[in-house]
Amino acid sequence: METIQSYIEEHKNRFINELLELLKIPSVSADPSYKEDVIKTAEEIKKRLLEAGCDAVEICETPGYPIVYGEKIIDKTLPTVLVYGHYDVQPADPIELWDSPPFEPVIKKTELHPEGAIFARGACDDKGQMYMHVKAMELMTQTETLPCNVKFMIEGEEEVGSESLDWFVKRNQEKLTNDVILISDTGMISNVQPSITTGLRGLSYVEVEVTGPNRDLHSGLYGGAVANPINILSKMIASLQDEDNRITVDGFYDNVIELSKEERADMAKAPFDLDAYKKSIDLSDIHGEKGYTTNERNSIRPTLDVNGIWGGYTGEGAKTVIASKAYAKISMRLVPNQTPDEITEKFVKHFNKIAPASVKVKVTPHHGGHAYVTPIDNIGYKAANKAYTETFGVPAIPQRSGGSIPIVALFEKELKSKTILMGFGLDSDAIHSPNEHYGIFNYLKGIQTIPLFYKYFTEMKK
Ligand code: BES
Ligand code: MN
Ligand code: MN
Repeated sequence: METIQSYIEEHKNRFINELLELLKIPSVSADPSYKEDVIKTAEEIKKRLLEAGCDAVEICETPGYPIVYGEKIIDKTLPTVLVYGHYDVQPADPIELWDSPPFEPVIKKTELHPEGAIFARGACDDKGQMYMHVKAMELMTQTETLPCNVKFMIEGEEEVGSESLDWFVKRNQEKLTNDVILISDTGMISNVQPSITTGLRGLSYVEVEVTGPNRDLHSGLYGGAVANPINILSKMIASLQDEDNRITVDGFYDNVIELSKEERADMAKAPFDLDAYKKSIDLSDIHGEKGYTTNERNSIRPTLDVNGIWGGYTGEGAKTVIASKAYAKISMRLVPNQTPDEITEKFVKHFNKIAPASVKVKVTPHHGGHAYVTPIDNIGYKAANKAYTETFGVPAIPQRSGGSIPIVALFEKELKSKTILMGFGLDSDAIHSPNEHYGIFNYLKGIQTIPLFYKYFTEMKK
């Protein structure tokens, strides 16, 4: 019988080359000018799921981008694993900060990836991680070791809020029945210390517009006598956090669940090197909510961040002007028990309240999502941990992440199943940033670990 290891050894070059081909298609869901490439990527995934051994694969049309659905049902009495991933990617901008073109993947060695890493938009988030599941499927089919039923659901709108997936899941509960949902779209602590993500933050995203005068004004003729919307917006934003870096939006923390001393002590056991953290992003000091550690600030605490701010003259040289309007995009990361609707409503009220009479404000809500936490006493977690322990030689550490995959909370509500987040990325892989990359080690380790999850999950389910 061929082992997992020897199959990977024999086919790894092809596994890598196939991923490189996939990364060449710019499936940017946020930008309509890439529409054809997004659709082409869905078709490519369909082809590869069929090649990997799925019996039936369909491209399911939705109001937005299609969802690729594939399955292999070997025995209805056996458990079913539902794999979710996304084939869309973030926009590549700012393109000038990439060392190599974002859609022309190259393999380069880095300090953390001495075996090489693939540099391309989507290499880690999520094409590389999603494709590990396709190759794990091929491996199990080819070595005749697939122990249970599998369903794949790969979407193309994750990076823009998963609206069509929401639509699809609500209409296909029957088709999507499963015993556990498996996702690789998160990270782990390091290549020698795996972790399993046990929580994701929710999200509330708004865009604000501040209007002063009805037209742009000469800043000499009017300056000092009328409200400058950019000055006002800056002041308003600055007031959203106090000296302790706590968020001042009225009622923002009302529903936040505080962790117990024991839970916080457990969290603090995870290895973390503050100096290396600072060094990796070139910071001389950290920043955040008083009374919490860096790892707490970026996982169990809610946040408010400006993602973009604009207005007035930003071209070459100087223009003396008071702009009529100023804008900002603001995201709030939420923790369990805060809901996106509640927080958005509180933000709108608060933002209107703090606006001086000299300006008008408008707040437009964007997509949102609920946070998620998963217990570790279920067989999904145990099976994942057993798989990691075998391939890494050490058990995985449970860890809550600061990122969001809003659809996970919806899966729990609509499909009534738990999600296991087996992520193999590193925080330093620069997802959403220029020079995104994914380690070859991580990619192959994923392909090696996933079949063991299937094996142990099926065994434990019996
Ligand atoms: N894969 C990420 C989320 C992620 C990354 C979670 C690393 C944990 C660790 C996902 O593609 C993503 O970027 N999500 C967005 C939210 C979405 C609604 C645009 C996010 O977290 O900003
Ligand atoms: Mn992702
Ligand atoms: Mn992403």
